[in-house]
Amino acid sequence: MNSRMNLNIVCIPGDGIGPEIVAEAKKVLDKVAVKFGHSISYKDILMGGASIDACGEPLTDEAIAAAKAADAVLMGSIGGNTSTSPWYQLPPHLRPEAGLLKLRKELNLFANLRPAYLYKELREACPLREDIIGGGFDMMIMRELTGGLYFGERSTRTMNGVVTAVDTLTYTENEIRRIAIKGFDIAMKRRKKVTSVDKANVLDSSRLWRKVVEEVALDYPEVTLEHMLVDNCAMQLVKDPKQFDVILTENMFGDILSDEASMVTGSIGMLSSASLNDTKFGLYEPSGGSAPDIAGKGIANPIATILSAAMMLRYSFDLDEEADAVESAVRKVLEDGFRTIDIMPQEESRRAGVSQVGTAMMGDLISNRI
Ligand code: IPM
Ligand code: MG
Repeated sequence: MNSRMNLNIVCIPGDGIGPEIVAEAKKVLDKVAVKFGHSISYKDILMGGASIDACGEPLTDEAIAAAKAADAVLMGSIGGNTSTSPWYQLPPHLRPEAGLLKLRKELNLFANLRPAYLYKELREACPLREDIIGGGFDMMIMRELTGGLYFGERSTRTMNGVVTAVDTLTYTENEIRRIAIKGFDIAMKRRKKVTSVDKANVLDSSRLWRKVVEEVALDYPEVTLEHMLVDNCAMQLVKDPKQFDVILTENMFGDILSDEASMVTGSIGMLSSASLNDTKFGLYEPSGGSAPDIAGKGIANPIATILSAAMMLRYSFDLDEEADAVESAVRKVLEDGFRTIDIMPQEESRRAGVSQVGTAMMGDLISNRI
């Protein structure tokens, strides 16, 4: 049993379904605290649309300071409907997503871990054929999070009478090295395989990526390294997902591939994530978005957020036993047949023994099993 800890957590409920799913993760964390004798204090801060509405900007300096002072940050989701929400009439640096990007940069959260794992209970929800997912799959996408296209210089201007937009993709060898080291470290705790994904047949940044990853690999003789072009990787994810252990990739590729990987697990509502810096500090959030179409309906899947809270226990607090307890509670609830709507079997004939529950009920079921 671990000694009693005092966890100081900043929460960012955010927009859309964010507040609903964060509430369920807190419920589960509170149960962990009672069960294992820890104490947790929470402080909420605003980010994204909620902060734009209240403070006129997506992330205030006070909010950043509060996040920096915490032991870890638990986030829901931010943003709204990009075609209808008034937030998207604002200049880009004032839109909801700018808050999240600023927070990632300010906290130096360069390593984004996105595990994609197929629960056997959710095979029904996986869009891939049984012969493809037969053996299940379990991969960790390691996405670089503070460099590349997301943070390069950008502009839109008229040149010679033609409107021209420019985004810049920059990586330094140091940025690549530190994420590669994290990727190999994680691989050592898993099946010892790293697939480094790039576009080295076209991009200079990818050629540097490949070179630095190969240098780092020399320090990990037990890990098998392979390189894969990103377009091929997108294909392989649906053709043979079990081949992957750790996928190591840059920011934009990781954004796209992690959405794809999440869908083959059955639902983006299942995919947790951790964004880490080079200390124990991290920001934990579901990989999915704010789903404004279902916000406030009490039907969102809180599991990704609850599993993100488990990652927090594991990576920021070294509370492995507690994290295991959360993960096995989730598995138990799925085994018992409880599903939110996004992971309900489509066919009537497969619904025997399966019951549909809402967001709060799912949180109750999981916390009751801890
Ligand atoms: C994600 C999201 C963000 C990203 C958006 C909201 C800026 O899609 O965390 O994957 O692109 O990184
Ligand atoms: Mg994304």
